[in-house]
Amino acid sequence: MIVIAAYSHKGGTGKSTALMALASAIDARGQSALLIDCDPQRNFNMYRVQGEEIGCWSERMEVRYLDFEATGVADLESTLMAAEDSGQFDYALLNLAGVDHPFNRMALRYAELTLLPFKPAATELAELGPALAVIRDLEDEGEIGAARVVFTMMRPKLTSAATAYRDAALDGFPVLDSHMPDTAVFADIVMRGLLGRTLAMMEAQAVGLEKMQAKRLRAALTDCNALLQEIDKTLSHHGSAA
Ligand SMILES: Nc1ncnc2c1ncn2[C@@H]1O[C@H](COP(=O)(O)OP(=O)(O)O)[C@@H](O)[C@H]1O
Ligand SMILES: [Mg+2]
Repeated sequence: MIVIAAYSHKGGTGKSTALMALASAIDARGQSALLIDCDPQRNFNMYRVQGEEIGCWSERMEVRYLDFEATGVADLESTLMAAEDSGQFDYALLNLAGVDHPFNRMALRYAELTLLPFKPAATELAELGPALAVIRDLEDEGEIGAARVVFTMMRPKLTSAATAYRDAALDGFPVLDSHMPDTAVFADIVMRGLLGRTLAMMEAQAVGLEKMQAKRLRAALTDCNALLQEIDKTLSHHGSAA
């Protein structure tokens, strides 16, 4: 079972959305995941409820909630161990609350890969440094697996000022080539359940405008699949380097 966490020390950077994108890609290739909400926002649970309502959820995707303030990291460890022992899951996805909290620092030690979703806009990038500082601390202590920034809400083109700002904020930190484009419909997309299932349903019955929507969902699923493939590659390289 591969454990992937999404972390940033602030909210609204695209953590939940990026992990749901991964869940869609995992489901689309017939694999399973335990989705662990460690953020009181409980986004996974919200997506599950919505997905089930429209008949586009999967029994291979199970949601669990661990309140980061109320539960200790021991609960997370036993949850992960039980999931691993059950042999039921290919992945565990950890949706962490957007805060710098001891729970998060501990939780990150269990992840083979930590994704740091960020929007490459000046106001957001100012926050990237502090998030990377947390990761670099853990790396110095040898207590974290691979860690990669993944850009979310991407516009087709960055201004040169934004590019310079981005590179300064990253200061050499590795970034995934795959990104989550800025799709105005993305907020909507994650409320449409697991994309492959939603698409199968839509494409069977789409008429008029729905065909356009289906096309956008298809493009979004392609991006989700590309992200998962790059993650697989990153993990196999990281594993062989270790
Ligand atoms: N790729 C994207 N394109 C457009 N909107 C996005 C994208 N990723 C996230 N968002 C939107 O940005 C907001 C914050 O995203 P979310 O994943 O909930 O962040 P976090 O989990 O870090 O708080 C949400 O309204 C979400 O719909
Ligand atoms: Mg979230």
